[in-house]
Order: sequence, then structure tokens, then C-alpha cells
Amino acid sequence: MRVFSRFVSLSALRAEFPVLGRLAYLNAGTDGPLAARAVAAAGRELQRELEQGRAQHHFERRGELTDSLRAAYARTLACDPADVALTTSTTEGIAQTIGGLQLGAADEIVTSDEEHPGLLGALAAARELHGVRIREVPLSQVAEASGPRTRLVACSHVGWMSGCLAPAELAELDVPVLLDGAQGVGAVAVDVGALGCDAYAGAGQKWLCGPDGTGMLYVSPGLRERLAVPRRGYPNLADPDAGLEALMHEDARRLDTLSLNAETVACALAAVEVLESAGWAAVHERARSLARSLAEQLAERGRQPAPRDDTTLVSFPSPDPEAERERLAEQGVIVRNIPSRPWLRASVGAWNDEGDLDRLLEALLT
Ligand SMILES: Cc1ncc(COP(=O)(O)O)c(C=O)c1O
Repeated sequence: MRVFSRFVSLSALRAEFPVLGRLAYLNAGTDGPLAARAVAAAGRELQRELEQGRAQHHFERRGELTDSLRAAYARTLACDPADVALTTSTTEGIAQTIGGLQLGAADEIVTSDEEHPGLLGALAAARELHGVRIREVPLSQVAEASGPRTRLVACSHVGWMSGCLAPAELAELDVPVLLDGAQGVGAVAVDVGALGCDAYAGAGQKWLCGPDGTGMLYVSPGLRERLAVPRRGYPNLADPDAGLEALMHEDARRLDTLSLNAETVACALAAVEVLESAGWAAVHERARSLARSLAEQLAERGRQPAPRDDTTLVSFPSPDPEAERERLAEQGVIVRNIPSRPWLRASVGAWNDEGDLDRLLEALLT
């Protein structure tokens, strides 16, 4: 009976995403599919603004929506909403954390050799502007690589190229750990306490199926106290009318992005609620098991995927990744190529089904 009801809710989940009626959409690692309900929520906010203008009530509504989105993101990270800042992207949360540490020439950050530009940009800035030493090691070795000069270990929770997981030993480190969760939150279960990280930056637009321009940053209270906040505005201030004496919020709102519009926030919130209505455990389990099945079928067809963990990304070799990506797109199959590797990457979500995998496998043969 439980299996049956889960099946019903997951097939109902697929029906939420119109794009799946046309395409074998396997691209949530870039941007997740949009749910009709989420787009409708954004439309309702804009309509309200169109009809009622944007005065006192509008700003109260924005406040309510941001509170609700913060709480929803906190549920996806298994933490207190007071420890979650709203950002516009994973990249922004990473930059806030690395910049806020104010490291210098005597300091080192350990990272992996398979990171995304969203993390590499902030690392490069720390090196170029402040002389911070950046040491790159394989993702599997980031925990043991921490040395006497290491002030931060910053790496992916789930690697974007291969779908490998960061080592569990990171939870044992004394040095702060920042996880880039762009391919983590929404895709696999996240519990920031169990991961033992001090900061976790995630995306709203990927595995949480929100609009572009959404994201979250968890920062533990201990690390938050140590982070400088060089840019501050109304959303960050506890008493914005106190002029130059204005204090920042004690909680993670001090790290919020400077402006988020109501329609974006409403869309992101409705998207999380769509996924929650199917049940996170079922969503995670189905996505991972479909990805496993795809990896096995690719291997049987001579496209042995790159080494991966039990996540939702499946990268596999392609003789000409860009050309093959385009050829697949012409056949209604959406995947991406990995620029620095001869690979295509399929992102498998709970909204996908075996038919989507079959379409990819058949299109690869033609
Ligand atoms: C591992 C990883 N980090 C960061 C990013 C950048 O994400 P955002 O656009 O949310 O900044 C991506 C996007 O693909 C990613 O895969």
C-alpha cells in the first residue's frame, strides 16, 4: 500500500512539469524543469503588483514570502531557518563565505581538482587580491590534505563533472569546511549537521526546480560570527533607520542578498512545495535509482560512465560531446557536455521516468 501511494505521488509529480511532455529533460544539474504551479505562483504576484501597485502591503508580502522560502530551504538542509541566508545563486553564497573570512598571504584554502567556476572564481579572487594559497587535490583527498596553514576546506558536496561525493571524513576536521552544494541540495538528502560542514551553498534553480536567481547559504552560528559582511543593505539590517549606527541582524539574514523580488521568491517557494508534496525520501530515492539504472544501461551499451557515487549525475564518454549534445537535443533529449572532459552528463530527477532514459539510450544509438 505504501509503495502504491508513493508511486501515485511520483507520477503526479511528473505531471507538474509540462516540459516533460515534450522532452526527455535530463538537465536539472544545469536548471531543473519548471513546475506549472510554480510559474502560476510567480504570475499571481506580478498580477497583484499590476493591479494593486507596490506600496506598504507589497513590502509586507515580500517579507512573508522570504520568511517562507527561508523556512522551506532550511527544511531541505535540515537546519534552523535562522542559519539560512537567501542568495541569488550558489556562487554568491560561496563568494560571501570565502570573502568574509578575510584570509591573507599566510593562509591556505584546500580544494579539489574538479571544482566548478562558481567556486573557482572566489578562490582565484582570494589568491589574486589577498595572496591566499590555493591547494588543489583530488576530491577524495580533501580531508587528509588539510595542513597547518589551512584555514578553509572548500569543495563540492557532489562533484559536477562526475557525481562523486565529498569524503565523509570532512565532518571530522577542526578547520572550517565550505561545501558547494549546487549538485547536492534537492538531489540527495542533505543534513548540514551530519555533514559536519560550517557553510553549505546551494542553488534554487537546479534540483529544487526554482527560477534562475535563487539560492541559499547555510552558515553555522560559530562561523557566522567570524564572517565580515562588506556589503550591507536593508535586508541585512536589524534597525535600518539607525543611520550609520545600524546593526546587522544577528542571524543569517545579515548575509542575505541585497534584493529579491516577490515573483521569484513565490516561484521558488512553490517549486519546493511541489517536490515536498511527493515526499523528499521518495524523491531522492527515485532519482538515485533511475540514475543507477541509466549508468548500468550505458555500461551495457559500451558507454561506461565515469566513476561516480550514488547521486543523480551520470557522465559518460562521447566521441564529440558538443556535436552529440546538439544531435540529442534535435531528438528532444536534453543533456549537457562537460567542457574539460570528453563527456556528456545526464541529470536524472524524480520527475523523470524509464521512458526518458530509453529516449536517451535510443538517441545515442542513432
Ligand atoms: C558544482 C557547482 N557549483 C556551482 C555552480 C554554479 O551554480 P549557481 O549558478 O547557482 O551559482 C554549479 C552550476 O552548475 C555547479 O554545478
